[in-house]
Amino acid sequence: MANLTDNLLSWYKKNKRKFPWRIKKNIENPYYVWISEIMLQQTNANSVSDHYKKFISKWPNIVSLSKARLHSVLLLWQGLGYYRRAINLHNTAKIICKKFNGEIPNNYNNLIKLPGIGDYTANAIMSIGFNKNTIGIDVNIARVISRLYSLDINNHKKISKQLHKLLPINHSRNFMQALMDLGAKICQKKKVDCIICPLRKYCHFHNKNRTTFELEI
Ligand code: ADE
Repeated sequence: MANLTDNLLSWYKKNKRKFPWRIKKNIENPYYVWISEIMLQQTNANSVSDHYKKFISKWPNIVSLSKARLHSVLLLWQGLGYYRRAINLHNTAKIICKKFNGEIPNNYNNLIKLPGIGDYTANAIMSIGFNKNTIGIDVNIARVISRLYSLDINNHKKISKQLHKLLPINHSRNFMQALMDLGAKICQKKKVDCIICPLRKYCHFHNKNRTTFELEI
């Protein structure tokens, strides 16, 4: 019998949002994942696509970025805002080339020490870029899990514990992005669409409000 994780992954396969950082050759390259995750901090996913495409075509690998002039990185960043991110990105590229032989570190402890990489981004790079058994908790993911299990949305420790029970080995990348998409498309902050949610039968929030939803139909 399919469980919650299977339902979520098959929903994602059919319904995932299409973004340039999700095409196969990009999603399996931690450099490209790192660039997208930095652009996506504080910026809506739909606004990032064009900048992302220009960025990776101008600097297709970390060595090229480390050799770029900061001025041209800032120029390309125009329109995204929060320029500190671009400065950190450029610095981090230089550090990775010097200290890690041009390879994005594939462990949390090394990632978290790099400029511009905090807890969420380190976990996102591990999960999406390397498909390691971990997950970054963003607002969409926190909301989905807090509703599913009636947890406090601000209690990331409990949310993380629950997520680790669900994480499918070797599918972290899709699992993390599936939860993001569910939060963005179906389980939104102010609008829920439980009727079409692949997780509704497991969901405390849905079960608690079932009568209301049935009355609405
Ligand atoms: N926000 C942060 N990372 C994302 C991703 N991989 N897809 C969509 N939105 C995101």
